[in-house]
Amino acid sequence: MKFAERMSRLGTESAFETLARAQKLEREKGMEVIHLQIGEPDFDTPRNISDAAIKAINEGYTHYTTPAGFLESREAIAEYYFRMRGIRYDPDEVVITPGSKEIMYSLIMMLAEEGDEVIYPDPGYPIYKSVIEFSGATKVPIPLREENEFRLDVKELKALITPKTKLLIINSPQNPTSSILTREDMEEIYRLACDHDFLIMTDEIYSRIIYDTEYSSVAQLDEKKERVMVLDGMSKVYAMCGWRLGWGLMPKKVAEGVVRMQTNITSCATSFIQRALNEALLGPQDAPTKMVAEFKKRRDFIVDGMNQIEGFNCLKPNGAFYVWPNITATGWDSRDLAEYLLTELGVAGLSGTAFGDYGQGYLRFSYSNSIENIGKAIDRMKKAMPALIKEPVK
Ligand SMILES: Cc1ncc(COP(=O)(O)O)c(C=O)c1O
Repeated sequence: MKFAERMSRLGTESAFETLARAQKLEREKGMEVIHLQIGEPDFDTPRNISDAAIKAINEGYTHYTTPAGFLESREAIAEYYFRMRGIRYDPDEVVITPGSKEIMYSLIMMLAEEGDEVIYPDPGYPIYKSVIEFSGATKVPIPLREENEFRLDVKELKALITPKTKLLIINSPQNPTSSILTREDMEEIYRLACDHDFLIMTDEIYSRIIYDTEYSSVAQLDEKKERVMVLDGMSKVYAMCGWRLGWGLMPKKVAEGVVRMQTNITSCATSFIQRALNEALLGPQDAPTKMVAEFKKRRDFIVDGMNQIEGFNCLKPNGAFYVWPNITATGWDSRDLAEYLLTELGVAGLSGTAFGDYGQGYLRFSYSNSIENIGKAIDRMKKAMPALIKEPVK
């Protein structure tokens, strides 16, 4: 069968492939694989949220909703943002989707086309690049460098802007490096967007998983709601990846476009899950607070462990649940090392190159696993690496 040409421009996410391969090794070789590859909290969805969804089913919330989502749920999101960031959104500026990925897809497909340039982080979440290419727009990666703690360098950004720049994608805390943009970064980025008249999509899916730091959003600077679109959702902070619920906050005119996209793709997000959203966002927040405290303990543990592995060097990030060790001193290519760790040591992580060309020299490990399992993975790598160090790649 011949697919349409555009399919050749659509990429994928290798975390899912690695998961399938790790499960095959477990099944066929009886190997004990430690899963540090997937970007999903290993906690249960808080009970009060599950109960709210079950109650909504029993009450008959099992029908289509308007494509933008229930008004009460959009109001709940608006209230949540006001409490959290002090920004007032109108429900017409909120669209609820089955996962924030749909916001990402819709915005890029709606706004960018051939002749436009879209700047996105490299290393970065692989779907940005995939959908930019699918849209026909030109992809413009901005490297995230270790010497800048993997925050984008505003001077470098300035150099990449042209009259064709249509959209900038930022992500803080960032996947895969977990870096966090500062308030000053946001101010400079926003100033550039105004001076050069481009739009900003800010992916804030990890914004509540932060440690010892304040969160600042570029949306707080866009008082007139002219150019910033926020993407967020339940997946990470409420451990609800499988529920598929996300949302976007954006200028009303852009929201109308996303609603039209959604009408064509899924019609609406699942009705009873939208009802559970009200409980999640405005109900008790003890569960996410506990989860973040546990992640912080694991972050300290895994960073310490990574730095004890020969050839590994790892910064301590203040958000998300990923570590991004530099492995250049091992002399290995990232892809080969990730493969070796999986097949020989039973440690599933991802090659930095799964996130872009600038991911060469790095691996990504998710600490969405118990301290006990993380410890086992570190021990296996600590034991094996000294014998595996190669001459540095020239
Ligand atoms: C940076 C980033 N944005 C968005 C998503 C997608 O999240 P959702 O489950 O809301 O579609 C992910 C998931 O891993 C992510 O890492």
